[in-house]
Amino acid sequence: MDNKRSIVDIIGERYANRTYQNKPLSREHRDMLDEYMAVPVKGPFGMTARFSLVAAREGDSSSLRDLGTYGVIKNAAGFIVGAIQKTDHYLEDYGYLLERIVLYATGLGLGTCWLGGTFRKSGFARSISLEEGEAIPAVIAIGYAAEKPALLDSIMRFGAGSKHRKPWEELFFNGDFTRALGEVDAGAYRVPVEMVRRAPSASNKQPWRIVKENGRDDFHFILERTKNYYRNWKVVGMEDLQRVDMGIAMHHFDAAASELKLKGTWAAGAPGCALPDGESEYIVTWKGL
Ligand SMILES: Cc1cc2nc3c(=O)[nH]c(=O)nc-3n(C[C@H](O)[C@H](O)[C@H](O)COP(=O)(O)O)c2cc1C
Repeated sequence: MDNKRSIVDIIGERYANRTYQNKPLSREHRDMLDEYMAVPVKGPFGMTARFSLVAAREGDSSSLRDLGTYGVIKNAAGFIVGAIQKTDHYLEDYGYLLERIVLYATGLGLGTCWLGGTFRKSGFARSISLEEGEAIPAVIAIGYAAEKPALLDSIMRFGAGSKHRKPWEELFFNGDFTRALGEVDAGAYRVPVEMVRRAPSASNKQPWRIVKENGRDDFHFILERTKNYYRNWKVVGMEDLQRVDMGIAMHHFDAAASELKLKGTWAAGAPGCALPDGESEYIVTWKGL
């Protein structure tokens, strides 16, 4: 992690913060975010995206006037907006690259919230001068969380976050979908796998499934779609957010693996087992080296 804090700790601190203090980002925080976002990084499928911080200045919130969130977000100090070319797997790469920025902001002590549905596209498109062939699949609200949680509060929040996630046996599998992957079976990858479980997802649907190959550190990532979720939302112009969820989970997995010095790469492959049903889709494999 670029700001030298443990990524595993930072993942534990992040939560969807929807209410902010009515105060702009400090100059230092704006500069740090701008600098971090200015360095081009490739997602696991090889794409880059451009990101921009649209932040209110002291005494002037007019830059945010156009950026509606249908009342879901209170007093955001700004938004991180990104644009990516629509090609194969652009949604996974977008999720991966934007979660990297979210965790950086969390490490700076900022509150964030992913917004894939409750943001008005037109104003955000103007703010980043959206070009032909590009999409803004989601944006991030950012600012100082309304009440600074006391330590105990953070610990409870951490616990609550994990309570609101599906248990391992519903998400992670050993060899094929008939056998659950226990924490011991995950071996050195116990923490990266757990970091997938902690990932945020649209409507907290947690569509990620992982199948670990028997006897190897190869982890197949499979998207288990929520029935009718995308089909219902696409009519109002929403992107396939569960693929963004997959990219976010991939970032948590490989950032934790790299912190633990576990080497590997993302590769196209095959799960080597039958998928549970017609709603499941193979996405990618982490090949441990
Ligand atoms: C791709 C994506 C899109 C999301 N879109 C919205 C949204 O439009 N509005 C909203 O209030 N929250 C949105 N969320 C936040 C999720 O509801 C939240 O992350 C999830 O419930 C898990 O809670 P946590 O982030 O506190 O762990 C989105 C999250 C993700 C990952």
